[in-house]
Amino acid sequence: MRPMTIVRRLNRVASVYRDTGVGGISSRLLRRIRSFAGRDDPQHARWLQQKQAADAAFDAANGTQTGGIQEIFDLNVVGENARHGLSHIASDPDEFSRMMTQLDLDLSTVTFIDLGSGKGRALMLATAFPFRRIVGVEFARELHETAEANFRALATGASSNAGRVELVCGDAATYALPIEPLIIYLFNPFGSAVVRRVAENAIASWRGAPRPVCILYMNPLHLTDFIEAGWQLRDHRFGYAHLVPAQG
Ligand SMILES: C[S@@+](CC[C@H](N)C(=O)[O-])C[C@H]1O[C@@H](n2cnc3c(N)ncnc32)[C@H](O)[C@@H]1O
Repeated sequence: MRPMTIVRRLNRVASVYRDTGVGGISSRLLRRIRSFAGRDDPQHARWLQQKQAADAAFDAANGTQTGGIQEIFDLNVVGENARHGLSHIASDPDEFSRMMTQLDLDLSTVTFIDLGSGKGRALMLATAFPFRRIVGVEFARELHETAEANFRALATGASSNAGRVELVCGDAATYALPIEPLIIYLFNPFGSAVVRRVAENAIASWRGAPRPVCILYMNPLHLTDFIEAGWQLRDHRFGYAHLVPAQG
């Protein structure tokens, strides 16, 4: 293991400790030990198996490589927030589509931004909806490059929408949001410290230029960071939170 990888792992443990306390650390450690010993929690093992099958089916159908659970410790990360980044896992196509079809918005005026866009799965799924623009921000250079390769592969397909997609290699914590109607999507990409910065940046962007802006936060582990920054919950069902700026 490279010294940089060890430092990042230790930093990550400190970050998880800050976010979840001793309970969070010990349950993760226990899961790792059980998994290493081949005695994975049966529910987690089943989920993993289903996830691998769904990833393989999606990528076989699209000629892409968006699947796999990948830790980021060994990757080349842009910015200062590697310690707060969570592993790469791609969005589930059915959950994503259900979330999008529940929105009561004219998507043709909206820019969709995925903060922590990984290999580009959510961006690919977003091309099925009539967004004005689609942007992905990913801080791990290798994942960003895989997303680029995926969209190059898609662009050769006859019915592709890949041209509407812009890929940025950068840190979500410092990304300057465009002054346009926005859906900001997060699939549990980072710990509390970065969620808080994203929540504060986004509310400041909205206050500076009021316009339709909402957050769709899948698997929302750090929802309170959004609420404390000035967001209010519009909906919280089916595993994701829909937040809008708190008015007044
Ligand atoms: C759970 S994956 C989600 C991937 C993609 N959004 C999807 O739904 O298919 C989270 C991604 O966030 C990225 N990430 C974590 N922290 C980040 C940060 N500060 N800035 C940009 N990307 C980050 C990770 O590298 C990882 O690829």
